[in-house]
Amino acid sequence: MIDLSVTLGRLTLQNPVLVASGTFGYAKEMAGLVDFQKLGGIVPKTVTQSPRAGNPPPRTVETASGLLNAIGLDNDGLEHFLEQYLPYLRSLPTAVIGNIAGKTEEEWVTMAARVAEAGNGLAGLELNLSCPNVSGGLDFATNPAMTERIVRRCREVCPTLPLIAKLTPNVTSIAEIASAAAAGGADAVTCVNTFLGMAINWRHRRPILGNGLGGLSGPAIKPLALRCVWQVARLKTIPVIAVGGIATIDDAMEFLVAGASAVQVGTANFYDPIASVRIVDALPAALTQLGAGSVRDVVGTLAWPT
Ligand SMILES: Cc1cc2nc3c(=O)[nH]c(=O)nc-3n(C[C@H](O)[C@H](O)[C@H](O)COP(=O)(O)O)c2cc1C
Repeated sequence: MIDLSVTLGRLTLQNPVLVASGTFGYAKEMAGLVDFQKLGGIVPKTVTQSPRAGNPPPRTVETASGLLNAIGLDNDGLEHFLEQYLPYLRSLPTAVIGNIAGKTEEEWVTMAARVAEAGNGLAGLELNLSCPNVSGGLDFATNPAMTERIVRRCREVCPTLPLIAKLTPNVTSIAEIASAAAAGGADAVTCVNTFLGMAINWRHRRPILGNGLGGLSGPAIKPLALRCVWQVARLKTIPVIAVGGIATIDDAMEFLVAGASAVQVGTANFYDPIASVRIVDALPAALTQLGAGSVRDVVGTLAWPT
């Protein structure tokens, strides 16, 4: 019997396959398509303190092997999440990890404290320190000191819930930012959010997205995300949840071998809503191929060419 369970700091999951924030709604939308009890966990869309309308359209554009989006954290706010979405989410037979984003340091603390108080049923809290699409917004995880401070202050007001810092790849050294999140007391880091990009309609001499810039996701970013995950995981300072172009069992296994303890499926949910379930079903055979009896046995086992 293969052991699929994984432990990341205070967080234990029945298997290492989650669905990524912003690509799975608040789960109800996917109920007719996905067998939730098969999943390692669900990360619903980011919520902010106050409702946000998001960016002007168009908000998405397809590119070669990737999706460029600038949604701009369109959401109904934290109180609406707690009242309207959480009762359903907490009834699901899998781990649900909330995802929040603050606009200021104080807002982060207020939101984390509110989740600690009213977030009953959440298995953990992902701190989206890395949304590239919020106009005028701060990309907190581009700065190690800021990352450490926000994680530490959220940790102080939210002492028992597993905290996961979601990092941006749009930095010189993602390993440095991950170390800062670890120093602040995060249980794990999620690597990575989208890569800043743009698409242009040259005939109109205009960007295609309403926001001008957007974040690139999907198969196009997998090699970049693999590199980020490996750079963080090899430090062995904090467990890593990988996300970036994962759509198949081979993708998932590559990230586990690179050092991720768990994976999230993002953009693939839009064109193949059961990609995550298929990965879970294929995991035992893939682990057996490597002679492994558990997920742990393969995490970070990459042999570097000598
Ligand atoms: C349309 C869209 C919306 C997203 N919204 C969020 C969000 O609200 N919060 C968040 O933390 N990440 C968000 N992401 C980022 C994904 O969770 C993920 O980190 C990224 O897309 C890379 O993974 P992928 O290539 O598997 O999609 C969004 C991605 C897409 C494509």
